Amino acid sequence: MTHSSTRSDASPAGLFLVTQPGLEGPLAEEARAAGFTGVRAVPGGVEADGGLPEAARANLHLRCAVRVLLRVAEFRAMHLAQLDKRSKKVDWRSILCPEVPVRVEATCRRSKIYVNKAAVQRVEGGVTAAGIPIAKEAEITVKVRIDDDLCTISVDTTGAPLHRRGHKEFVGKAPLRETMAAAFLREMGFDGTQAVVDPMCGSGTIVLEAAEIAAGLIPGRSRGFAFEKMAEGGSLRRRYLESKEGPARAQGPARFFGFDRNDGAIRGARGNAERAGVAGLVAFERAAVSDLLPPEGVAPGIVLVNPPYGGRIGDRKLLFGLYGALGAVLSARFGGWSVGIVTSDGGLAKATGLALDGGGPVDHSGTKVQLYRCVL
Ligand SMILES: C[S@@+](CC[C@H](N)C(=O)[O-])C[C@H]1O[C@@H](n2cnc3c(N)ncnc32)[C@H](O)[C@@H]1O
Repeated sequence: MTHSSTRSDASPAGLFLVTQPGLEGPLAEEARAAGFTGVRAVPGGVEADGGLPEAARANLHLRCAVRVLLRVAEFRAMHLAQLDKRSKKVDWRSILCPEVPVRVEATCRRSKIYVNKAAVQRVEGGVTAAGIPIAKEAEITVKVRIDDDLCTISVDTTGAPLHRRGHKEFVGKAPLRETMAAAFLREMGFDGTQAVVDPMCGSGTIVLEAAEIAAGLIPGRSRGFAFEKMAEGGSLRRRYLESKEGPARAQGPARFFGFDRNDGAIRGARGNAERAGVAGLVAFERAAVSDLLPPEGVAPGIVLVNPPYGGRIGDRKLLFGLYGALGAVLSARFGGWSVGIVTSDGGLAKATGLALDGGGPVDHSGTKVQLYRCVL
């Protein structure tokens, strides 16, 4: 969380929407489009106004966020006694329930308070004074960050990271995270109306995100969240799940297409589509890149693909051939389509022979990937 915030001590409430570094821009756009206010991209995420209800809405509705932190206090802390005192002043019971345990994590940097464990103990003191139990394995986490003597205390309202939508039982090799697929679709200008093709779809992440967006499905509809165990959490879930949803919107014909040369991936992707309720909107077929053809009966749309790259799967030399074949097939057969290629390897992107522009680096489990784009 950034500490350049201008929010005052008196009203520390606010959301910090965590995302993968490099995807702050698409997340900020998504949050604004979803009606959040005070939206500001900062390194590692996006700040927005709000309390627990807005946190619940963000968890359920935002596709590009990885986690939603609810800020409960922000103050200067030069020594542990101060941290102790301020932690006891936090209105914990307005957010947390007395019967639900929490755990406290702390990181201290460039600060007079420099022992994480000591900071944890002081904040735990504040939490227990409010009648809320502490447990090591608790599902709810209170995060304390002390940076340059500025202490920010937040409650993680998410739990398991948001890319786990709850439909992808089959994950295949080197899957893209759903949050990244959603952000890259947004960067490609996808608005739910265009056709989308992923020629190396693996578990189908890109195609499934596109279909869900087109169907107006709520990304968090099938999973649980930490906020549900907080004050009024159950009713907040119901409040923000009420509208929009319904399989009636996810009717065909298919506009979202995934291909892969691996039979297991295609079977797995079809299963994932069934579970997500978008089977009618998608088609997954086994095909090698060299046999790829644009789907019949749809206007040129978006090709978005995350081919294998070295360091994860495959051998770089062989991959040059694969990227070359991909580029040749796309330029010969996909006139009018927008192309996006997600890879960590600029040399491989170049091997496509396409006139690609690279986006900024995005952190994908420690590897920096980029979205390379062109219009054919
Ligand atoms: C990095 S994975 C894609 C992961 C996918 N985005 C997901 O989220 O699951 C690359 C995929 O390319 C497929 N692939 C590799 N060579 C191929 C080829 N010549 N034709 C079609 N698919 C290929 C692999 O089977 C693998 O599923």
